[in-house]
Amino acid sequence: MTPKTVLITGASRGIGLEFARQCLARGDRVFAACRTPQSAHHLAALASDRLHIIPLDVADAASIAAAQRLVREQTDSLDVLINNAGILLDDEKIPDNLAALDFERTAQVFRVNATGALMVARAFLGMMRRGGIIASITSGYGSLTLHTHSHTYAYSASKAALNMFMRALAHDRLTRGMCVVVLDPGWVRTDMGTEYADLAPSESVGGMLRVIDSLKPADTGRFLRWDGAEMPW
Ligand SMILES: NC(=O)c1ccc[n+]([C@@H]2O[C@H](COP(=O)([O-])OP(=O)(O)OC[C@H]3O[C@@H](n4cnc5c(N)ncnc54)[C@H](OP(=O)(O)O)[C@@H]3O)[C@@H](O)[C@H]2O)c1
Repeated sequence: MTPKTVLITGASRGIGLEFARQCLARGDRVFAACRTPQSAHHLAALASDRLHIIPLDVADAASIAAAQRLVREQTDSLDVLINNAGILLDDEKIPDNLAALDFERTAQVFRVNATGALMVARAFLGMMRRGGIIASITSGYGSLTLHTHSHTYAYSASKAALNMFMRALAHDRLTRGMCVVVLDPGWVRTDMGTEYADLAPSESVGGMLRVIDSLKPADTGRFLRWDGAEMPW
């Protein structure tokens, strides 16, 4: 497989860090974006001349613009953008917790999980190669169809909003010839997923990279699980 140039957000830990690790291992050039590079020790430990660690807070427009300029100085084009950064409020780790939900912080969940991903996609759109892929990491919790029992309010709604943003982007004339998808990573053992989750990051990310590698422009607008299964909206 021809090495790709990949930009990953939220690469300091968890799923994003594993994307960086696996992409580097297969020979890709990786722009690994994270909020505070100086404390991203696991990412720094992946040291490679194909690894570029860049500061990027997906909730901050100025930070996104600065990151875009930094990446632009080092490459003309990107093959893959992985919108991975995401947050889950501690309040929402307890089910049925409407009474304790802090609506000010809820807005921040939307800002990072949904709007932030679209802001990043728009900023880097002009650098995406024809045939390039924008893959945003969503969640099964963002599926209205699967949401038949009460759990998280803000997180689930933010992922549903992310899904709609990306579905709209997939059908925007600006992404013609590209492929825009949302991917459910499954339940993964990370800080967010907890140690009780089903999947190791290596399994989930390995599956998602196989899915990404198989995508064609005609797949734009799809919602796929880490193993390639179609997800219901
Ligand atoms: N783990 C699961 O079971 C699971 C299931 C479904 C979906 N997902 C989704 O998968 C993605 C990765 O989750 P994870 O499990 O790896 O979570 P995680 O271990 O909590 O890591 C989250 C990552 O997002 C970054 N991040 C948070 N806010 C950010 C911001 N404003 N700007 C830039 N980066 C930011 C964090 O950076 P810092 O280190 O700076 O905080 C960290 O790198 C998320 O979108 C999540 O919703 C996860």
